[in-house]
Amino acid sequence: MWLTCSSIGRKFVMAITGICLVLFVTFHVLMNSVALLWPAAYNVICEFLGANWYALVASAGLALLFIIHIIYALWLTVQNRRARGADRYAVNSRPPQVEWASKNMLVLGIVVLAFLVVHLIQFWAKMQLQELISHDLTAYPQVGGAAAAPEFGTLFLQAAFENWYTPVIYIIGFIALWFHMNHGFWSMFHTVGWDNAIWIERLKRIGCWWTSIVVLLFIAQAILFTVQANNKFFLTDEALQEQYAEYWAEQAQGLIEEYNTEVTAAVANANDMPSQQAAQQTFFAERGDYFTGKAESIRAAAAAQAPDINNAELANFAKFADFVKMQAERAAKLSQPNELLNQQ
Ligand code: HEM
Repeated sequence: MWLTCSSIGRKFVMAITGICLVLFVTFHVLMNSVALLWPAAYNVICEFLGANWYALVASAGLALLFIIHIIYALWLTVQNRRARGADRYAVNSRPPQVEWASKNMLVLGIVVLAFLVVHLIQFWAKMQLQELISHDLTAYPQVGGAAAAPEFGTLFLQAAFENWYTPVIYIIGFIALWFHMNHGFWSMFHTVGWDNAIWIERLKRIGCWWTSIVVLLFIAQAILFTVQANNKFFLTDEALQEQYAEYWAEQAQGLIEEYNTEVTAAVANANDMPSQQAAQQTFFAERGDYFTGKAESIRAAAAAQAPDINNAELANFAKFADFVKMQAERAAKLSQPNELLNQQ
């Protein structure tokens, strides 16, 4: 096939995947700007881009683009080195800065890839991947010692950018991205045949402006997020706290409903008071730890992420959490002598 067998076909694949990745990176930098201008709206976008089918299709497509781009890059590099041997840098008709990036495209790509690995561990793995793996909030990643819901991008900005090394790694990645994208633009136009002397100059200038604006925005965002995270902005902003409180109140409500359904089913067949009490005790002995664990996670998360919000549902939930904990402890104590008897 032309796209795999011929050298120009392979370069064409690099160009097409490159254009798509440039569009993704441009979308991404605009989305990050929302986190600066309107953080609560940013969380709504993050929720929209969570583990929903359309977001998963987009993520899979994006991963495929990256993989194809990387495989073809390695392929073309090996092919070029074989073809040119020791004289591979002999021809020098390009501007010096393009020439430098051209020789180092692979190394620059590897630096961008290394940044990407750190970046995906800090964000994607804790957000979309977490939603895919488990909705159990006791297994959620921790931010500031409490469970962080996968849709709250702002909490993961807090966790990532409060570390000194995050802006350092990111800015190194962004500088490599600038050289990589700038040269990518140049070679993309070259590959698709826009070699007209006037147009190639214009397109190169547009490419350089585009890359510079995107990368400068990324750098500015990384610096601003670092300042905000170190001032605990994402944990103290009132609008964000309202949003976190609302989320935890919904989770609390869900847990109470789950408890009501289970406890009603557990005592359904008990006809008199003693058998009802016995059924309740068995229920708490079996399910008490589950409800206590979840209730504690919700309570701790709400206290850590929305300490300044007076939410009536969360206040009532504290009573429920205490009740479930007390009942679970009581059931555990009552079942102990029985276990001892059973052992004897
Ligand atoms: C200040 C800089 C950046 C910040 C704060 C940032 C933030 C984020 C966040 C919060 C997510 C998770 C979104 C979600 O799953 O809903 C994400 C995902 C991602 N980011 Fe970034 N990002 C930055 C720069 C970059 C750059 C420069 C690249 C590429 C070179 C990049 C590539 C990706 C990719 C591939 C994903 C996964 C997208 C998916 O879920 O399909 N990011 N980023």
